[in-house]
Amino acid sequence: MLTSKQIRDKYIKFWLDRGHVILPDVPLVPQNDPTLLFVNSGMFQLANYLGGEPHPLGERLVNIQRCLRTKYDEMLEVGDNRHTLMFEMIGNWSLNNFFKKEQIPWILEFHVKELGLDPHRLYVSVWGGDELVPRDDEAIEIWKKAFREYGIEAEFSENIEAIPKDIEAGKNHKARIFPYGKSDNWWQRAEAPGELGGSSSEIFYDTGIIERKQDKYHINDDSGRFLEIGNNVFMEYKLNSDMKWEKMNRHNIDYGGGLERVTMCVQGKRDIFETDIYEPLLNKIREISRKEYKNANGTENEYTRSFRILADHSRAATFILADGVIPSNKDQGYILRRFIRRLVRYGKSLELESNFTRILAETIVEHMSDIYPHLKANEGFIYDEIDKEEIKFRKTLERGLNEFEKIRGRGEEIDGKKAFWFYETYGFPLEMIVEELGVPEKDAEKFELDFEKARKSHQEQSRTGAEQKFTGGLADHSDETTRLHTAHHLLLAALKQVLGNHVKQRGSNITNARLRIDFSHNDKLTPEQILEVEKIVNEKIDEGWTVEKKTMPKTEAEEIGAEMEFGQKYGDLVSVYFIKHPETGQIFSKEFCGGPHVGNTKELARSGPDGKDGRFKITKEQSSGAGIRRIKAVLK
Ligand code: ALA
Repeated sequence: MLTSKQIRDKYIKFWLDRGHVILPDVPLVPQNDPTLLFVNSGMFQLANYLGGEPHPLGERLVNIQRCLRTKYDEMLEVGDNRHTLMFEMIGNWSLNNFFKKEQIPWILEFHVKELGLDPHRLYVSVWGGDELVPRDDEAIEIWKKAFREYGIEAEFSENIEAIPKDIEAGKNHKARIFPYGKSDNWWQRAEAPGELGGSSSEIFYDTGIIERKQDKYHINDDSGRFLEIGNNVFMEYKLNSDMKWEKMNRHNIDYGGGLERVTMCVQGKRDIFETDIYEPLLNKIREISRKEYKNANGTENEYTRSFRILADHSRAATFILADGVIPSNKDQGYILRRFIRRLVRYGKSLELESNFTRILAETIVEHMSDIYPHLKANEGFIYDEIDKEEIKFRKTLERGLNEFEKIRGRGEEIDGKKAFWFYETYGFPLEMIVEELGVPEKDAEKFELDFEKARKSHQEQSRTGAEQKFTGGLADHSDETTRLHTAHHLLLAALKQVLGNHVKQRGSNITNARLRIDFSHNDKLTPEQILEVEKIVNEKIDEGWTVEKKTMPKTEAEEIGAEMEFGQKYGDLVSVYFIKHPETGQIFSKEFCGGPHVGNTKELARSGPDGKDGRFKITKEQSSGAGIRRIKAVLK
């Protein structure tokens, strides 16, 4: 049986053998797209290139990208045998290079020949057509031919329910190619001008596991029988400024498959959580809870769902933390907080009453750091933060649950607005409240809307009087601001050195009198830490490090780990400033930046070549929102 590691390696090798180049993966927290909280597909970093810009690595790319999907309804899906929020996407791309007639037989070959999946169990969907784009007859013909290679006479069926009743019957079954419409077989990330999209063709595997018995099945239904394992997007369209899809003058392939799901099929498991990917986590949960994941005969028991939520959410939380996010009430921090709190809640269902989230994080770091070394590099921060959040939530969890009991006892209704009060008072995330209350599926959406309305109006009220958003950038290009700008780079690098790698710039503002930086970090800096940071910056000033600018493709700058401000948009060609030791060439800082900067850090010392009068000094250190600190500093 192939291990998930072997599947990974085979996937990459398969595409390397077909002229692809490895596209380095990116952090889960997007570095340059404020519209998206988490990277949710491998093509995330390719939008511009799919649109036409030449990619520095070429036209055939392959990668494995960690992804996270956190929509509310997706959150509520976790708990069955196949849905997870965090997953790894195996992707390959053709940037206006090959197209359907290569991609389809290749992807089938990978699943059948490389992974050994039984082709009789594979079914596919194709674009069924609408007023703009006709049915994808080309894909239908290519699939037929591709299946024929494996002795299967696949046929297209307009009737999507022409499905064999079980796997055995599937052996001789002809209809394997079915048409679907916009909600299933059209791919786009968002509804905005410039957005790319295209019809798609998904691959399904007949697991034979039927959760919901039905009279008739189709591959995209909720019976649980067919598992979608991959999606070929034929990306040829772009939304114009009138929000109409226009055909581009190019054809791209954007393929994405789910590593965990593919592994489940290859390893012949009935449950994604029983693959070797989740095995160490399930074992750990078993060990610390002294509960069993399933009944002895393999059926689900009262704990199964909690085990699954713990396994998925602990992975998600650990990976988000590894990117330097801190639990808070905003953006990524808010999602992270919800994950950790749900962990605590479901841990309680397994009678895990004391700090265990850290133990799960340790298991993940231990088992995944060979593939994701940044987990190990940030482990101290991960454990501290997950611990702190768990402890904090434990204080209110019990009281909140008691309050629920009382409300239920009084037969009182809880609506979305009241739920927000609950969240405010006891810190219960929305989906947890929905689950505690057993809100029926049909009412869940309205509930969410009311909750969000209450949350937004609360946020607006508390924002009055708060500081304006950072304007960022340089106020002018005077000598003073230029010097402070270079000092700003030294400061950020020194903060990382003293506080840790989780420090990321979250905003900045520079005048000719002082610099200001906002950065991710939870705790107030101690006087010792402030002194240490000042000392490092002043040393660099005294030692006269050189400041060099290089222009390079954004991907290259990302690859070498150049710092960039969270949430800022950068072009495809960026300038990166390096602060280098004059003799050894050692690099102290590398940052995306438009400049301008001094040529040598010595220039930051205002008077005298010995630099003795020009000192860098932190004048203020304060909070600037949850998980964000602000420093003001001068050169005087
Ligand atoms: N980008 C495509 C998806 O996520 C492959 O389904």
